[in-house]
Amino acid sequence: MLISPYFCSKESKEMVKEGKVPVSFPKDVDTGTDLEKVEQTFYIESYGCQMNFSDSEIVASILAETGFKAVNSADEADFIFLNTCSIREKAEDSVRKRLSELQILKKRKPERIIGVLGCMAERLKTKFLEEEKIVDIVAGPDAYRDLPLLIAGAGMGEKGVNVFLSREETYGDVSPLRLGSNGITAFLSIMRGCDNMCSFCVVPFTRGRERSRDLFSILAEVSDLAGKGYREVTLLGQNVDSYRWVNPDSFDTVSFADLLRRVAKEAPGMRIRFSTSHPKDITDEVLETIASYPNICRYIHLPVQSGNSRILELMNRTYDRQWYRERVNAIRRILPDCAISSDIIVGFCSETEDEFEETLEMMTFADYTLCYMFQYSERPGTPAAKRLTDDIPPEVKQTRLEKTIQLQRNLSLKSNLKDIGKTFEVLIEGNSRKSASHFSGRNSQNKVVVFPKFGQAKPGDFVQVLVTDATSGTLLGKPLS
Ligand code: SAH
Ligand code: SF4
Ligand code: F3S
Repeated sequence: MLISPYFCSKESKEMVKEGKVPVSFPKDVDTGTDLEKVEQTFYIESYGCQMNFSDSEIVASILAETGFKAVNSADEADFIFLNTCSIREKAEDSVRKRLSELQILKKRKPERIIGVLGCMAERLKTKFLEEEKIVDIVAGPDAYRDLPLLIAGAGMGEKGVNVFLSREETYGDVSPLRLGSNGITAFLSIMRGCDNMCSFCVVPFTRGRERSRDLFSILAEVSDLAGKGYREVTLLGQNVDSYRWVNPDSFDTVSFADLLRRVAKEAPGMRIRFSTSHPKDITDEVLETIASYPNICRYIHLPVQSGNSRILELMNRTYDRQWYRERVNAIRRILPDCAISSDIIVGFCSETEDEFEETLEMMTFADYTLCYMFQYSERPGTPAAKRLTDDIPPEVKQTRLEKTIQLQRNLSLKSNLKDIGKTFEVLIEGNSRKSASHFSGRNSQNKVVVFPKFGQAKPGDFVQVLVTDATSGTLLGKPLS
């Protein structure tokens, strides 16, 4: 059932003004239009991290519940939403570029509504409406339940902003609408916000205080996914290891290790992944829990950011080089077959050449299978922007970045070559990008494995694959029947 703000009765417009969102109108009383026939459509484009992609599924669910229909292109949509990211300047640039492209679509159909969601909406707030004239709605990450009301207002020509950050909102009761899903792998947010205040990072300002989602709503969603045939779920949070939920009935505290255990038992036929782990919080108990359940993947994303203790202190990461090395050793001891990946920032304020070399050393020590590498990008309002000077010249940042990329390519290749001759269980996700006669999937260590199609095997199946060759990005193999 559809609701169109354009066809609201006077009475329902009053309801909107009073904050009572009309949920469904069988008929428009002013015009007698049969609203069932005037279906309004929405399109969401997501930028940034997995949490944003997961949030877009929450938004889609809220909009679908309200009666709007999801479409696959901006051109077809009455409402276009960009779910935005502020993490680096470049992330914001790409959103602004997209908004200027959307101007053409808006001109073609001026009543089309354009909304900006997510972190950039939260960071810029009402400034967005001043800077980008085509934007009608600005909604921060905790304001998505308000979207039907904001849409209704926009339909009446009112620009709407809600960037209220909540201490409680987890959307735990909203069942995500998995748009464009492969039906095999899914993301599931277990917490929101971040309390860490790393000095370079905008996330605590755009996502607010850390809060953990109700254990039982997580288990219900995992079980629903398993029932629908999904084979892998990734538990998401900015710092999953600090998950902490207090049961309001028993007052028992549920830790991340407890949560992992419960999820692994709830869906024994599904793979469990999680991201992101903060080196200060990942405990031996978490590592031992992973070791106890074969369906929890042997893969930990453990961003180091820098290998130098002085820089780590300036970043307010609250661990030092020794601590990080010790956590890597613990992973190697408790989970010998576990892959580790990382995020690295090069050219942070005052980083010397020797300090940067320590980052390269750390990459080699941790033997990352994968690394996301970034040049430091100063974000307005962050502690680093207020107290430190972004003094490393762009060309130095660029050279350092290239060095990390080159080193990581070698480390990934070395690690992949070591896998030749080993057999892995691979979850088939779909066709290989390069060849329709090959499948592509991932092993527990999150490495991409490509192999020829065979027999009745299909996406969603777990198959044993013997690795016969490797590049720095992919393992190539042959399936064992
Ligand atoms: N919660 C995660 C990180 C989320 S942001 C964690 O603590 O590890 C993803 C990555 O973006 C960060 O790990 C960091 O490497 C990078 N990043 C964040 N702010 C940045 C900035 N101002 N400049 C460059 N890279 C940044
Ligand atoms: Fe940002 Fe640090 Fe929180 Fe990660 S842990 S989101 S880097 S403040
Ligand atoms: Fe970007 Fe926000 Fe995620 S800033 S990285 S979309 S939490």
